[in-house]
Amino acid sequence: MKPTRSASLTRAAARRVSAIEPFEVMEILSRAQALEADGRAVVHLEIGEPDFTAPPDVVEAGVRALRAGMTAYTAALGLPALREAIAAHYGACFDVDVSPARIAVTAGASGALLLVMALYVDRDDEVLVPDPGYPGYRQFVRAFEGRPRALNVGAETAFQPTLEAVAAAWGPRTIGLLLGSPANPCGTVIAETELRRIAEFIAERGGVLIVDEIYQGLVYGRAPATAARLPGEVVLVNSFSKYFCMTGWRLGWATLPERAMRGLEKLAQHLFICPSSAAQHAALAAFSPASLSELETRRTAFEKRRDFLVPALEAAGLRIPAPPQGAFYVYADCSAFSRDARAFALDLLEREAVAVTPGADFGRNATQHFLRFAYTRGLPELEEAARRLARFCADAPRRGSLREA
Ligand SMILES: Cc1ncc(COP(=O)(O)O)c(C=O)c1O
Repeated sequence: MKPTRSASLTRAAARRVSAIEPFEVMEILSRAQALEADGRAVVHLEIGEPDFTAPPDVVEAGVRALRAGMTAYTAALGLPALREAIAAHYGACFDVDVSPARIAVTAGASGALLLVMALYVDRDDEVLVPDPGYPGYRQFVRAFEGRPRALNVGAETAFQPTLEAVAAAWGPRTIGLLLGSPANPCGTVIAETELRRIAEFIAERGGVLIVDEIYQGLVYGRAPATAARLPGEVVLVNSFSKYFCMTGWRLGWATLPERAMRGLEKLAQHLFICPSSAAQHAALAAFSPASLSELETRRTAFEKRRDFLVPALEAAGLRIPAPPQGAFYVYADCSAFSRDARAFALDLLEREAVAVTPGADFGRNATQHFLRFAYTRGLPELEEAARRLARFCADAPRRGSLREA
């Protein structure tokens, strides 16, 4: 068939798309899948989602909703009963009053981040994002022609921003800061006092502080925290994906100051119409005593995995400069073995069939020295991965070439 437009006139994609960095972990994943097709038993520690499925009550409620035909559009900001249940959760867990009117149910934390950026970001507005940090943050800012500005964070501050760093980076076009706590990829938690100092600084400048609390319930040896009490324009992003083990249900939420809700609602109406109705009905059961007790058992399982993996990685010769306090990630420095963590990850996969994520996916700040291990597999698999890693690292001097990789 004859083309109607010349290829040179065809616009393949908007210019902003060319600025999107490739996702290294996908390269690892597709190679891991190829090895599996060849019969190798790959241990997957690259995947950032729980190996548990939704609690039984949630599944039952979801099935019931589907059978009852509760699948029509809901209100754009979500089912009133779910917004109330989320508000009650803040009351029960944190003794903080968050009105249901300030809660928007969304298509995961991703949907929340997209709507929040659509609400606040004008063209060329700058948003500070930690580096290393969750790679999606940069893309949500860019989607609305904003400029993500990397805020380099290091082990000395548990890979979390400080007031000094925020103040130094804050410029005339800066409108806010977006951070995660517990953070991906480092699993570290920001100190409450530091976050309050940052919130006050941002409030004085009329900016917005967005705190991604998606890993909120997954903390170890400490109580979960929320930024809900901080002053100023504070937005909280959260999700049913991680703690509630509901990644594919695509459900999350955001809490905003009340005056911002009308704008967010208009955006939600047009961009999403509403979050998945069946998932919302199912999520109502996520706060049942049985679900919460099941989720607590799983949190303890994650804690045991962390307590196994951190010393195992150190024993293999990796360095973990900031102990992970939450989420399900360990951010480990492999520079004793290689100057290029990506090469290390690919070689580890080829030789020992252990899949991990190269640090480069999380930014540019010394990320070439780091790997992210996700403990989203059970202890027996982690033990196997640790054996293989120890062998791989012990053999590194003999291979020699790896160090120059
Ligand atoms: C820090 C962080 N924020 C947001 C998301 C998006 O999660 P979802 O859209 O599944 O809720 C993820 C997913 O890995 C994440 O790690």
